[in-house]
Amino acid sequence: MPEKALPSSRLLLSITAFSMFFLILSSFFLFHSVINPLIPSSVFKQFSDPIAYKPGGNNEPTEPLVVPLPPSSIKEAQKVEEIQVVPRETTRLNEKIDDLSGNEACNQNKALLKVYMYDMPSKFHFGLLDWKAGPNEIWPDVSDPKHVPRYPGGLNLQHSIEYWLTLDLLSSNVKKIVSPCNVIRVETPTQADFIFVPFFASLSYNRYSKVLGKEKVSLNRKLQDQLVEFLMRQPEWIKSGGKDHIIVAHHPNSLLYVRKKLGSARFVLADFGRYGAKTANLDKDVIAPYQHVVRSISNNSSAPFEQRPMLAYFQGAIYRKDGGAIRQELYYLLKDEKDVHFAFGSAQRSGVRQASQGMGSSKFCLNIAGDTPSSNRLFDAIVSHCVPVIISDDIELPYEDALNYSEFSVFVWASYAVKPGFLLNLLRGIDRDEWTKMWERLKEVSHHFEYQYPSQPGDAVNMIWQAFARKQSSVKMNRIERIYRMP
Ligand SMILES: *[C@@H]1O[C@H](CO)[C@@H](O)[C@H](O)[C@H]1NC(C)=O
Ligand SMILES: *[C@@H]1O[C@H](CO)[C@@H](O)[C@H](O)[C@H]1NC(C)=O
Ligand SMILES: *[C@@H]1O[C@H](CO)[C@@H](O)[C@H](O)[C@H]1NC(C)=O
Repeated sequence: MPEKALPSSRLLLSITAFSMFFLILSSFFLFHSVINPLIPSSVFKQFSDPIAYKPGGNNEPTEPLVVPLPPSSIKEAQKVEEIQVVPRETTRLNEKIDDLSGNEACNQNKALLKVYMYDMPSKFHFGLLDWKAGPNEIWPDVSDPKHVPRYPGGLNLQHSIEYWLTLDLLSSNVKKIVSPCNVIRVETPTQADFIFVPFFASLSYNRYSKVLGKEKVSLNRKLQDQLVEFLMRQPEWIKSGGKDHIIVAHHPNSLLYVRKKLGSARFVLADFGRYGAKTANLDKDVIAPYQHVVRSISNNSSAPFEQRPMLAYFQGAIYRKDGGAIRQELYYLLKDEKDVHFAFGSAQRSGVRQASQGMGSSKFCLNIAGDTPSSNRLFDAIVSHCVPVIISDDIELPYEDALNYSEFSVFVWASYAVKPGFLLNLLRGIDRDEWTKMWERLKEVSHHFEYQYPSQPGDAVNMIWQAFARKQSSVKMNRIERIYRMP
C-alpha cells in the first residue's frame, strides 16, 4: 500500500463514521416520534378491545393492532393472573383496579351459574390438541387469547363446542379476560350449580378412532372407559348419580361406547338422532349449534332481497337411508329450476368459499335431513343471512325455548316438501316484505351462533350457559312452537 493513501483512507473512514452517526441519530428521532403516539392508544386498546379468536370466522378485520408487551411484563402479568378463585375480600380491590381500564371483574355474586370443573389429566382435553402440560400442570395458560392452544381446523371445528366451553370456564377467573360473566368456575363442588366434565369427546372421536399398531382398542375407546372409571369414583357423581354433571358430546358418534352408562348426566349435543330417549332428552340436555364453516357475513355486506338472484341453495352429501332419502327426492323436483342451486358433494375447503358466495346470494337455504337430523349447514345459512328452510322433522334446535325460529326460518314437514310444486310455490310466494322481516331478524340473531374466545355477550358460549341456567329453574321451559307451512 503506498504511503500517500493512508491519510485519505483515514479521512474516508471518519467521514463515513460521522455520517453513520447522523443517520442513526436522525432515524432514532424519526422512529421515536412515530412510535410514541402509538403506545398509549394501543395499550389502551388491548384492554378495551379483547381479541376474539374465531376459527372459520372473520378474523383479520376484528384483530386490533397491539404492540406486544415486553416479555418481562407478560411474565409479571401471568404471575398475578394465575387461575384461582378470587376470595370475596380481594375481589373488591381487583374491581377497583379493573375500573381503571374500564373492565369489571366477574365474581360469584354476579355470575348466572357457578360451575366446578374436574382437574382431569390433560390427556382428556388439551393433551388431545397436542398441548404438552408442564410438570404439575393441568391447564394451559389462557390469559393471552392469541396463545391458547388451537383446535384443529377443517371439519373438526364443527364440533369444537367442548373447547369453547372449557376455555370460557378457565378464563372466568382470569381478570385480564373480560367475560360476560354468565358462568364462573368455583373451587369446590359444594359451591357449584353444575359440575363440568372436561373431556374433548368429539376431538377424541375425530382424531383417535383408529386402532393403532398392537393396540386392541382405539385411544378414543380407551379414554371413554377411563372417563367412566374416573367419574364412578368421584364423591360428587356418587352423591347425585351424575345428574348435575355436564358432558359435551357434540359429534353424533362421540362418547359412543359409554353414553348409556353416563346417561344420567346432562349432555351438550347436536341432536338426539343417535340417542335413546332415556339417555338423551330435552328435559335434561342442551342442544348446541355447530360451529359454522363459512365466514360470517357483516351487516353491511349482507345482500338484500333484490341482490339475491338465487331463490334457493342446497349443497350437501347424498344419503339414501334413514331420513336422508328425501334429499334425493327433492333433487329430482328442483334440479331443473334455473334459480335453484341444488348439488351433491360436501362443501369442503375450496368449496367453502363457493358455499359462502352461494348462500350469500340466495334468498333461501335448504336444510334437508341427512344421516342425522342436524348439520352445520343450518348455521352456515344463518351467518350468511340466508333464510333457512328447515325440512327435517326430527331436528332439535339450539336454545329453542328462548329463540323463536319461525321469525327467521321456514319450517316444512318432509312429507309436504316432496309434493311436486309445493316447495317452489311456497318460496316464490314469500314476498319481499315477509322475506325482509326474516332477514332483519337473522341479522339480529346471528351472533348467538358464534363461538369465540374470549366469549362475548349473547354469543353461542353464553347462550349455552344460559340454557343450563333455565334448566335449573323450577319453571319448566318448553320450546317455542314452530310454525310449519301447510299446503
Ligand atoms: C357499515 O355501514 C355504516 C353506515 O353505512 C358505517 O357507519 C359503518 O362503519 C359500516 N361498518 C362496517 C363494519 O363497514
Ligand atoms: C313466533 O314467530 C312467529 C313469526 O313471527 C309468530 O307468528 C309467532 O306468534 C311467534 N311465537 C311466539 C310464541 O311468540
Ligand atoms: C346488525 O344489525 C342488527 C339489526 O338489523 C343489529 O341488531 C346487530 O347488532 C347488527 N350487528 C352488528 C355486528 O352491528
